[in-house]
Amino acid sequence: MAETQTARGSITRRFNLSILAVYALSIAISAPTIYLYTRHEVYQQSNTQLRMLVDIVKSIKGYVGTDLRPYFLKQGLFHTAGMSGIVAISRVAENFKGMQQNYSIRNVSDNPLNAKNSPQPLERDVLQRFRSDRDLREVRVEGLLDGQQMLVRSAPIVSKKGCLRCHGEPSKVPAEVTAEYGRGSGYHYKVGDVVGLEVVGVPIADIDSIAMQRSLIAIGLLTLLFALVFVAINLLVRRNLISPMLQITETAHAIAKGRLDQPLNMPRDDEIGDLARSVELLRRSFAQLMKRMRKGGMTKPRA
Ligand code: HEC
Repeated sequence: MAETQTARGSITRRFNLSILAVYALSIAISAPTIYLYTRHEVYQQSNTQLRMLVDIVKSIKGYVGTDLRPYFLKQGLFHTAGMSGIVAISRVAENFKGMQQNYSIRNVSDNPLNAKNSPQPLERDVLQRFRSDRDLREVRVEGLLDGQQMLVRSAPIVSKKGCLRCHGEPSKVPAEVTAEYGRGSGYHYKVGDVVGLEVVGVPIADIDSIAMQRSLIAIGLLTLLFALVFVAINLLVRRNLISPMLQITETAHAIAKGRLDQPLNMPRDDEIGDLARSVELLRRSFAQLMKRMRKGGMTKPRA
């Protein structure tokens, strides 16, 4: 009986070890997959938002350039936000920031009229890149802007002749501008210089914490699933494999000891059933042989 106990233990253990291995493998595969998928999804989302914001900024500039500026010039009127797309964007950006704190639309310069438009460290780096490579049209970086991790798109702002109207020599700039911004900074532009940057930033979600949260949910579900499979397989193995095999083993032991009067009846249409029928056939053959030997007067079979 001790032998059959070990045999029973080993089949179940083998099944259980396989289930555990598959469980470990599925967790090892799902964790990095979830991380990569989350990363892809987060970047795609931020990129879509970024494109939208860039296009909105372009649209506002287009509106100022084609509708407002010609009108003001024709009328001989002066109004900064109606004449400069950059100023219009700054005003819109201020309102927008009031409603959407996580997004940034900025026009920056290291020689600004408005001190609020001074470059932050990330912007200073990008400005440097545009100045050292004048063919560069656009830069996309991820970094800290307005104290937040953001996906940032930036393009250079190049000075043109029309800009000098407000950014040229302070003595020639409209009084409205110098009255509001003083005469200290934001002037002396030279045509063709990279004077600043237009910057658009959208928040980039914390990939690690989202991936971690998703991984924990996935691991929880996998564990539940494998626990169910584990219980189900153990029950099935015990009912369909181990119990009938114990019964067959018992019969075989009985035959070996000469007890031939216990028929083995296992009506199963599978391999275990075949095995049981073979053992039963063996038992019957032995029983018949013994009967014949007794009739023939022989009490013991000859060796
Ligand atoms: C009608 C006047 C006017 C014209 C023309 C104008 N600007 Fe400005 N610009 C301003 C004002 C006013 C501000 C400050 C806006 C604010 O308060 O944020 C500004 C802001 C800027 C800024 C942000 C940094 C800063 O100085 O605060 C940049 C960069 C800039 N302008 C570049 C240009 C360029 C390049 C042109 C030509 C394509 C141009 N501007 C034409 C009036 C003008």
